[in-house]
Amino acid sequence: MEVTLNVKRFDPESEGRVAHFQQYGLEVEDYFTVLAALIKVREEMDGSLALRCSCRASICGSCAMRVNGHAKLVCKTKIKDVANRDHVVTVEPMGNLPVVKDLITDMKPFWDKVRAVQPWLQPHGEVPEREYTAPSETMIHLTGVMSCIMCGACVSDCTALEVDKNFLGPAALAKAYRFVGDPRDDSDKERLRMYSEYGGIWDCTRCMECVEVCPKGVAPMDRIMGLRDKAIGAGFSKKKGARHSE
Ligand code: FES
Repeated sequence: MEVTLNVKRFDPESEGRVAHFQQYGLEVEDYFTVLAALIKVREEMDGSLALRCSCRASICGSCAMRVNGHAKLVCKTKIKDVANRDHVVTVEPMGNLPVVKDLITDMKPFWDKVRAVQPWLQPHGEVPEREYTAPSETMIHLTGVMSCIMCGACVSDCTALEVDKNFLGPAALAKAYRFVGDPRDDSDKERLRMYSEYGGIWDCTRCMECVEVCPKGVAPMDRIMGLRDKAIGAGFSKKKGARHSE
């Protein structure tokens, strides 16, 4: 199949630093992913094209980009599934994150927000001799959220983040849910107080974009709604969002 990749280019060292689209026509096989096509372009047509990838198997989370306007893991996205009638596929870097070059975004704001929710266990009781354990059945409800590979697709397409950069965003709050729901963690109350502040769980507009684009079925918005219920249950019901919800 002959396809045209319509790729958004941005060179921070170019005059004027203006992004533009560049088209590459190439022959691809049916099994080609968008990533395979981009690599073919880089190797055979234009070595200056910058992109990030590693595992090529939807595990590492480094190849998230916007394909035809929506965030996807390009190593998991087949060209034949996204090419339009004219065999054109548009590829852009993720949204809501600064672009370093072409399809590569700066993940620092993403990781800063993940760190801000304190994504580590905070048990209070006695320190066990070996490790903190939990019965398997108490962890089963967390398997979905633990599938997150931190690719940033949900953050890319989050409409709340688009208007307020202070919002912690779907990835960080899904991670927050993972620790609030962990039976070994004893800091639920402190966590829920923190997540109820400005930029936290009440700033989600429930647009569903994060649920739609998540390649791993984490459903971050559902986790945020879960945190809201827990926050109200813990007595943090004075916030405007909580009052509205009630
Ligand atoms: Fe690792 Fe796509 S290259 S998830």
